[in-house]
Amino acid sequence: MIETITPRRFARPFAGDIPKHWLPDNEVVSSILNAYTILVPANESFYIRTLKACLSRIDSSELRARCQDFILQEAQHGVAHKRYWRNLDAQGYRFRGFEAQVDRLVFRLIERVAPLGLRLSLVSCVEHINAYLGHEFLSQHILADADPRMRDLMEWHFAEEIEHRRVAFDVLQAVSPRYPTRVLGFALTAGLFYALLTSLSIALLAQDGILWRKATWVQWSRHLGASHHMFRRTLRHLRDYLRPRFHPSTMQNDAMAAAVLARQFSQRPPAVTPLPSRPARDRSRG
Ligand SMILES: [Fe+2]
Ligand SMILES: [Fe+2]
Repeated sequence: MIETITPRRFARPFAGDIPKHWLPDNEVVSSILNAYTILVPANESFYIRTLKACLSRIDSSELRARCQDFILQEAQHGVAHKRYWRNLDAQGYRFRGFEAQVDRLVFRLIERVAPLGLRLSLVSCVEHINAYLGHEFLSQHILADADPRMRDLMEWHFAEEIEHRRVAFDVLQAVSPRYPTRVLGFALTAGLFYALLTSLSIALLAQDGILWRKATWVQWSRHLGASHHMFRRTLRHLRDYLRPRFHPSTMQNDAMAAAVLARQFSQRPPAVTPLPSRPARDRSRG
């Protein structure tokens, strides 16, 4: 199946009344997704630079077109999440130094030392992670009770991660299809992604002074175990990626993502608005 990718802009403003812990009674999931919000812009600009570098090596015009729409979606994700940084600043969180160091010591360094095929393999793996996080958060309705603005931000992003989940893997197959490259990208990415996300989530909870509270550890264990089963499900999704015949299409969730995006577009005013279609964009570029 060939996916249809629609670049959209997240149109909701973030007012100052959004609570620090915007998923009620769940400071842990709020902090994990605040950490995700902090890591998204540098992460996604790494994907964009990597896929732009691959464009000239892709023979299929259809895949090149999907790649360009992927780039537009990821650019909008970075813009929207970075807008929320002002709220995090106003809430007193200190994260900008950490974020800048991650960009410099992880993404810029990888870009200097790793060959393009390996960088693409990292992007393909982290895009699988983004897609299964989206799948789990949407299918389990984990954010149903969240502040509506943050629910919209995260669910829009997760739905678009599902919508474009095939692109980076298809580009990897076109440009650098060897299985050992996929495995090496997996080995580097899975550990790095969860190390960064977990350490930043813990730092945010420590800044709130609630890291060592018993309720915090109960929330972690529920998120990983009894409530959301994220530990077991994460292992299953990661194992799937290592199957030699893996393809992101096997995750059957296009209708779920489309329903989320349709609901957001039908809100008044809409939470998301489509960017101009490709011919209109091409005309406006002259
Ligand atoms: Fe994204
Ligand atoms: Fe993505």
